[in-house]
Amino acid sequence: MSAPIELPFETLSWQGGLDGHVRMIEQTLLPLEEKQIEVRTVPEMVDAIWRLAVRGAPAIGVAAGFGMVLGVRGAGPDDDVLELARETKRTLDAARPTAVNLMWATDRVLRHLETVDGDGSELKAACLREAIAIYDGDRATCRAMGELGAGLITDGESLLTHCNAGALATAGMGTALAPMYTAHAQGKRIAVFADETRPLLQGARITAWELQRAGIDVTLLTDGMAARVMDEGKIDRVFVGSDRITRNGDVCNKIGTFQVALAASHFGVPFHVVAPLSTVDPHLHSGRDIPIEERPAEEITEGFGRRTAPQGVKVYAPAFDVTPASLVTSIITEVGIIERPDTEKVEDALRRGGVSL
Ligand code: MRU
Repeated sequence: MSAPIELPFETLSWQGGLDGHVRMIEQTLLPLEEKQIEVRTVPEMVDAIWRLAVRGAPAIGVAAGFGMVLGVRGAGPDDDVLELARETKRTLDAARPTAVNLMWATDRVLRHLETVDGDGSELKAACLREAIAIYDGDRATCRAMGELGAGLITDGESLLTHCNAGALATAGMGTALAPMYTAHAQGKRIAVFADETRPLLQGARITAWELQRAGIDVTLLTDGMAARVMDEGKIDRVFVGSDRITRNGDVCNKIGTFQVALAASHFGVPFHVVAPLSTVDPHLHSGRDIPIEERPAEEITEGFGRRTAPQGVKVYAPAFDVTPASLVTSIITEVGIIERPDTEKVEDALRRGGVSL
C-alpha cells in the first residue's frame, strides 16, 4: 500500500491519556469557520453526534469508541466498570439510529472489556487502547479502500458524489472520497461533481470544502441536477458512502442517494459504494429493516436561520434512504471489491473480514 495521504486537518482524535479529551472539528460551522471543540463527557458526546458536530458513519463510530472511554474513566474503586460500560453503550447508541458504525464501535469496546481479566484501572486502560485501535483501524481501512477504488478510476474521469463521505466523515481520508484522493495523488486528472445534499448541505458545506482544500477540481450541484448532468454525458462513475449495508447488499445512505442510483442505472453510469465492513450490519438481511432517522422539521423549513417555507406546513424529514442491491455496481470494502452484491458475496466478504456469521 502507498504512503498515507496527509490532509491539512484532523476530523477527530483523542488527546492525552485516560484523563484526556476528544478534539474534533465543529462541522456545523463549516465552511465559514474551522473551529476545534473539546468533548469531555458522555452527554457532550451524545450532543456532538446528534447536532452533527461529528457526523458520517465511520467518524460517528470512532467518536462513540472514545465516548466509551469518557463513560468509564470516572469509575471509582467500588464501581463495576463493565456495568458502567454497558450503560454508556446504551446512552451512546441512542444518539443517532441509522449509522451502524456507532453500535459496532460501542459493541466492539464492550466485547473487548468482557475479555479483560483485571481490576477497574486495567479495564479503563483497555478501554482507551481499544478506542484508539478503532481510530487507527479506521485510518488504515480508508487507505485500503482508497487504493482499491482508485484502481477503477482512469485519467481524465469525472466523478459524482452525494453528501460527505470524505475525511470529515472518518478518522482517515474518507470512504467515497478516498479513491478520489488516492487517484489525485497518483497523478490522475479527475473532476468531481458534488451534490449539495439538502437539507443540511453536507455536500456544499463539507465535501466542496475538503476537496477544494486538497486541490481537487470540484463543481457543486443542487440535488435535482444529478440526472441532468449524467444525461449530458458528464459523469463517468458515482462514488458514495454508506451508513448501513444489509446482508443482501442493500445500501442505506444520505437521503437522495437512491435517486442518484436510479439515474446512474438509467444512464449506464457505474454506481460504487465505498464502505468499511463496520458499516455492514450482519444482523439485518434487507434494507427494509434499517431504522431510518427522522430529523427535526426546522432543518427543512428554516435551515441555517432563514425561514423558507410557510408557518404550519407539514414536513416529512427522513435523513436516509435505501438503494436496493440491484442498482449497486460494486461495494468497495477494505477486504476487496464486491461486484454486483448479493447475500452470498456480502457474507463471503464478512467472513474474510473475520466476522463470524
Ligand atoms: O447525516 P450525516 O451527515 O451523518 O450523513 C452522512 C452520510 O450519509 C454519509 O454518506 C455516510 O455516513 C457515509 S460516510 C463515510
